[in-house]
Parts: sequence; C-alpha cells; structure tokens
Amino acid sequence: MSSHHASGHGHGHGHEHTDIDWEVMAAQLENSGELQLPLLRRTAARLRELLDPEKEVRRILDIGSGPGVMTCVFAETFAGAEAVAVDGTPGLLERTLARAERLGLDGRVAVRHAKLPEGLDGGDEHGEGGLGAADLIWSSKAVHHLGDQQRALDALAGVLRPGGLLAVAEGGLPTRFLPRDIGIGRPGLQARLDAVQEHWFEIMRAELPGSTSVVEDWPAMLSRAGLTGVGSFTFLLDLPAPLDETARAFLHAHLTRLRETVNEVMDAEDRRTLDVLLDPGAPEGILRRPDAFLLSATTVFTGVRSAR
Ligand SMILES: C[S@@+](CC[C@H](N)C(=O)[O-])C[C@H]1O[C@@H](n2cnc3c(N)ncnc32)[C@H](O)[C@@H]1O
Repeated sequence: MSSHHASGHGHGHGHEHTDIDWEVMAAQLENSGELQLPLLRRTAARLRELLDPEKEVRRILDIGSGPGVMTCVFAETFAGAEAVAVDGTPGLLERTLARAERLGLDGRVAVRHAKLPEGLDGGDEHGEGGLGAADLIWSSKAVHHLGDQQRALDALAGVLRPGGLLAVAEGGLPTRFLPRDIGIGRPGLQARLDAVQEHWFEIMRAELPGSTSVVEDWPAMLSRAGLTGVGSFTFLLDLPAPLDETARAFLHAHLTRLRETVNEVMDAEDRRTLDVLLDPGAPEGILRRPDAFLLSATTVFTGVRSAR
C-alpha cells in the first residue's frame, strides 16, 4: 500500500536487510488488496476507458501480481479476457489460483511463474515462448524491484499487441495513518518513518542484480519504451478514523515489518514509540487507538502501443 514496501526479511544470506521474503508477505499483500478493492475496480474500469473501444481485450498480464487481487479484478472487468498473473513467488501464484476459484473466476485466471527480468526475454514475434502477447499489461509496485527499470518497461511494451495499454502503478504518496502528535514520543514519527523507508529503498535498489540508476520520470520512461498517449491518474484510499479491525490489522503488520527492517536507524525514543504502537494491550496501540486512519495515494502511469 505504501509506495515502497520496506518489508524485507533477512534470508540469512546475501543482502540481509533488503532481501524480501514474498511468501511471508502473502497475507499482508492480500489484505492490502482487499482494503483497496473498490479502488482497484475503479482503476480497471478507467483502464478500459483508456483502451480504444473497438479493441478486443483477449489477454491481460499482471506483472509481479502478488496474491492476484488485481488479476481477479481484471477477470471480472474484462469478461472476454484471460487474466494471467506473472510472479516469481510460487506461493503467491497458488494463492492467486485459490482466490480465483473462490470468486468463481477459475478458467479465466491463469498463472505464470517467471523470475524477472529473465522471464521477460525470449518469445518470437507472435509472443510465443516469453510472456506471450497481451492487450493490457498491469504492473503494481513490482518494476521497482527490478535492477534496470527502463529495460523492464521496454520489454513489457514489446509484448503489447498494437493498440494495447501498459499501466504501471509506481508513484503516489507515502501512506499516512497517524496524526503528527500522537501523545507518545516525539511528534512527527510518520515523517521520520518515511525518511528511513526511503533510505532502505535506496539500499534495496542499489543491491538489485543489474541495478541501474534512472531518473524516475515514469511518463518519460514509457515514452522511451515507444509508447504514445502517455499520461497518469491517481487513486486515493481514504479510510477515516475510527478504523475497522481489518485496517488495524493491516497497519499492525505494516508497523511490525517497519520495526524489523528499520530498527537500527531509528533513535531509541522512536523505537519505544513503535513498541507502544505495536502493543496489542495498550490503549495507545495501533489496534486500539481511536485516531488511526488510513490515507494513501497511488499513481498509475499509462501508455499505448500504436495501432500500427
Ligand atoms: C510489492 S509486491 C506487489 C504485489 C501486487 N502487485 C500489489 O500491488 O500488491 C511485489 C511483487 O513482485 C514480485 N517480484 C519481485 N521481484 C520479482 C522478480 N524479480 N521476478 C518476478 N516477480 C518479482 C514479488 O513476488 C511480489 O509478489
């Protein structure tokens, strides 16, 4: 939900602080998707409007699909299409299939295990062998986990059929869920958490295989990938206080991961504040305090492959 998932769990090898165990994240990613479901449905409808009404949408790819919440939304929205979840984590693809079956969408949702960027390569001019050709490609918060983001966009644009649309959800605002002064610790905790997440994100990107710096001007990157009609729109998740249990559980998990990943760069007072926020029994804890809300903005950048 936050624009960056500062959510790594050390694997005990390599980059302990930025290697991410996506299997462990499964439930949290699905909860995040559930909280955003009405917005995801509106986003899918918006993407349909951006496509030429004459264009038949037969195949949709969801790149870095996680638990497949959006893949299933696409299957619902585009009744004539096959929606394919593409991810490098087998457990998340299993979750996607289970979700599709639960929603009565099995048969219309397929999964493809692929480690990117390798999985982007290959395939002939008909799209056979690689990811296969697609009319709509969606990727949310996944391209930033690839070393060379421009190369990834180039490859995705390359498998679009003429008139097809590429949409990447990569921008927005950091998630906000607490007032500036929460009555414990030093005011401004959220801003400091944002700063340590940015720091984590920078290290995470630098440690990716083939890490390449690029000015993250997503419209310019989509244009360089050969797409036209480039633009963006933003959707807002606005859950006011008091939050229900699902949103509180999401925030508790979010803060737990933050505590695990950024602990050593927080000062002692902020660490104590996080402990109180995470304490299930504390009235000031995130599970009980009345002032917690959930506000986040996600920007989607889009571009079209010319019809000829
Ligand atoms: C932050 S999650 C986003 C999930 C979902 N799209 C969403 O917006 O909630 C990133 C996803 O990308 C996948 N991923 C990360 N790096 C990958 C790679 N190199 N190849 C394939 N999938 C990858 C992870 O398994 C995970 O499901």
